[in-house]
Amino acid sequence: MTKHLLSVDDLAGRDGIQRILDLSGSFLEVTQRDMPKVPALRAKTIVSLFYEDSTRTRLSFETAAKRLSADTMTFSVGTSSVKKGESLLDTVQTIEAMGIDAIVVRHGASGAPHQVAQWSNASVINAGDGRHEHPTQALLDAFTLRRHRGPSLDGLNMVIVGDIRNSRVARSDIKIFAALGVNLTLVGPPTLMPSSLEGWPVTMTSDLDSALNETDVVYLLRIQQERIGDALFPSLREYTSRWGLTADRANRLKPDALVMHPGPMNRGIEIADEVADSPRSLVTEQVANGVAVRMAVLYDLLGTGGPVV
Ligand code: NCD
Repeated sequence: MTKHLLSVDDLAGRDGIQRILDLSGSFLEVTQRDMPKVPALRAKTIVSLFYEDSTRTRLSFETAAKRLSADTMTFSVGTSSVKKGESLLDTVQTIEAMGIDAIVVRHGASGAPHQVAQWSNASVINAGDGRHEHPTQALLDAFTLRRHRGPSLDGLNMVIVGDIRNSRVARSDIKIFAALGVNLTLVGPPTLMPSSLEGWPVTMTSDLDSALNETDVVYLLRIQQERIGDALFPSLREYTSRWGLTADRANRLKPDALVMHPGPMNRGIEIADEVADSPRSLVTEQVANGVAVRMAVLYDLLGTGGPVV
């Protein structure tokens, strides 16, 4: 990998992606030990700089850093000098002055982590920027699916449903799954589809029922009320009836079809309770695997490159 992980593009294609997924497998084994900790990043300091709310991503990175024996610092915008008007540049320079090795950035503006990477000598990891990318989510999704259908995902059919236009998860997932040979179909209201599909290796439809017939994996996205703003579909009830994975629809899936969601879920809107809690659902496993995948990313960026012990 390059010095930073800002986009799935930094993983250097199929081979680079597979290398991190293999490394994640070694770290999953570490997380399952009685003492789930290795000294790999002792004396390294990792800061999380989160300008947007997050539960799982922040906890996941912090847990990953601690299991690698790194020191961690958390910067929460709500209790920082950002409230006093400090700029992103001044904040980054202040953090940098403490002597740090990596910054994990989440920001509402697309491109903010790229900007931080230009200002900082530390490695920068994008933990979600605006509507742009969320590369570690894509890695943990690929890792999770590979554990069920891998090692090769070539020729698998995946349907991604929902607010594709506003979703950084969709953008990163499309890149990673396309690189791994998955056939992708995007489904949702036309108003929540990307304006152009040029260069995207996907097909698109608004008819969920026909898309579900042959699918091996249904990947549901959260209806992001905070990004959608004006109503782009008639009502949440109508959304659920046309694009929600209801219990009825789930019953018509292939018997071994799997269901994924990055969280946080809007239960009863894009996914029914029964489906979220059914054996098809990989949702909690995605969260658990997130720690191992982030350990692999941190180790790859900051470690000495030796074997995992
Ligand atoms: C996603 C995010 O914040 O981009 N959640 C996550 O990281 N697990 C998806 C979302 O907010 O819908």
